[in-house]
Amino acid sequence: MPITEPISVRPNVPVPNRYGAMCTEIYDLDKPPGSLPDVPFYLDRLVGTQGPILEAAVGTGRLLIPLLEAGLEVKGFDQSPDMLASCRRHCAARGLSADLQQARFQDFAYDHAFSAILVPVATFNLIDDFAEGLAVLKRFHDHLALGGRLLIDLMPMGYLTNEKPDIRTWTAANGDMLRIEGRAVEIDLVRQRRVTHDRYERWRNGRLAESELEVMAFRIWGLAEFQLSLAAAGFDQITVGADHQPGRPPGRSSRILNFEARRPAA
Ligand SMILES: C[S@@+](CC[C@H](N)C(=O)[O-])C[C@H]1O[C@@H](n2cnc3c(N)ncnc32)[C@H](O)[C@@H]1O
Repeated sequence: MPITEPISVRPNVPVPNRYGAMCTEIYDLDKPPGSLPDVPFYLDRLVGTQGPILEAAVGTGRLLIPLLEAGLEVKGFDQSPDMLASCRRHCAARGLSADLQQARFQDFAYDHAFSAILVPVATFNLIDDFAEGLAVLKRFHDHLALGGRLLIDLMPMGYLTNEKPDIRTWTAANGDMLRIEGRAVEIDLVRQRRVTHDRYERWRNGRLAESELEVMAFRIWGLAEFQLSLAAAGFDQITVGADHQPGRPPGRSSRILNFEARRPAA
């Protein structure tokens, strides 16, 4: 098999960044709707926004739901049927109706413009190719109204070479132990790309009842590289902060970078 053949065409190898059933179940246990410190940050940044907002790769609705509950008009798309099904369940349980579509960053399309587009929790890093990332930024730009804002959170560069395994456990409602073991299997410093194998497991009475492999492929952007890419896609008023703390500049210990940019008003 030639080494250049993309993972996605190899038989029996999971499509990268699939977010399947066990991944969704654990996402919901680990990050239920309304969790994580970015929620008050986004509520604050979006207060008073007129017109529809788009959350790209909306997932389980972790952020979408508190935004809807605050009275904002938010729509979302995601490529994972499992994550979207969870989002629909969470919305229904709260009597919320949301416009949700199955689509990818690379091909989403709406027939109207948005006042703001959000890409929280470093999900943009799951676009693992530079040219594709640039094309998606242009697609965001073209889906914003004049003066509309793009808010994107990215992992800092240090994540590219982090080789520490990620091992965590949770207890499901029925008492099963759910476990993830994630390891970097490929770090490409030239393409700024990293692949991890995340093994999801369900343990019952000390026996492995189920397991799933998620192949996760990321591209890590340099800070100035991303600012230049936003400008190349047509954005202005580009700012970057850190850790969802307004006014905090990025530094050595930053855990997440918070970019904001505007489609020029005219
Ligand atoms: C870390 S979760 C974030 C979910 C949600 N935005 C949140 O803040 O909790 C990443 C999401 O990106 C979705 N995703 C991954 N690659 C995608 C792509 N190419 N197009 C659309 N969605 C994608 C996954 O299905 C998953 O729901």
